[in-house]
Amino acid sequence: MTYTPPPLPPPYTNTSPPPTLLTQGAEAHLYKTSYLTPTTPAALKIRPSKPYRHPILDKRLTRQRILQEARCLVKLVREGVSVPAVLALDYEGQSENNNGGAWLLMEWIEGLVVRVVFERWEAFMKCSGELGGKELEREEKKVRGLMRGIGGVVGGLHRAGVIHGDLTTSNLMLRGLSSGEGEGSPGMEGDVVLIDFGLASQSISEEDRAVDLYVLERAFGSTHPRAEKFFEHVLEGYQGSYKGAHITLKRLQDVRMRGRKRSMIG
Ligand SMILES: Nc1ncnc2c1ncn2[C@@H]1O[C@H](COP(=O)(O)OP(=O)(O)OP(=O)(O)O)[C@@H](O)[C@H]1O
Ligand SMILES: [Mg+2]
Repeated sequence: MTYTPPPLPPPYTNTSPPPTLLTQGAEAHLYKTSYLTPTTPAALKIRPSKPYRHPILDKRLTRQRILQEARCLVKLVREGVSVPAVLALDYEGQSENNNGGAWLLMEWIEGLVVRVVFERWEAFMKCSGELGGKELEREEKKVRGLMRGIGGVVGGLHRAGVIHGDLTTSNLMLRGLSSGEGEGSPGMEGDVVLIDFGLASQSISEEDRAVDLYVLERAFGSTHPRAEKFFEHVLEGYQGSYKGAHITLKRLQDVRMRGRKRSMIG
């Protein structure tokens, strides 16, 4: 069965070139489109309305999510945290006979999501068998650098008073990498950019911050077993990123303990 995404909201019904669909999550559809000039790329995130929800409730929830996301992004750009800038939004889903829902237009980040970078790296490590000491050291050094970069960005986010709520390697991008380079060991230079603030909230509680880190740690463990042992370098990058970071790291120990107990009980 081929999937037909819901119709685009105006003005995207007649932009040229037409937006191209990149991903469709349970909640949102992501398109690549352009902004002001045809050669300025932009990312369009649409939250389609959900026909099975009561229309008034649906509208309120959709509006709340998209506004929350936009507010966090605007605040973070202002604070100098590496996230896409907000270009435009329609939080009401104003469009007539609209089932396109509400949308958010953002700066386009040219690069790859960290999940893909690690998938390529793991494939490279697997097929290159036993790497020699020097080569292995070079590979591991790259990974450590990326991990520290991730920690630094998450620390900047927390310093700004925002909790991401869904830190996974799909919600972190590495700017400047091209999808073309398929073989060999992937590059890991470039700025880490945080995306997807659909579940973000404003908080400075160390419990919330620690849980944010714990979610990321678990995500690494389950999606990138080979990279997991480098997670300590995320924490190393996080450590120096704001004044209270060491308190959050201490709290992370408690969160881990609770997580372990919970999984023992089942
Ligand atoms: N600003 C951007 N620039 C380039 N690509 C982007 C941008 N934002 C998102 N993407 C791409 O689209 C994918 C999905 O985006 P995002 O994570 O925001 O949506 P989602 O996971 O479906 O949303 P949600 O979890 O809020 O329902 C990302 O993994 C990334 O590959
Ligand atoms: Mg996402």
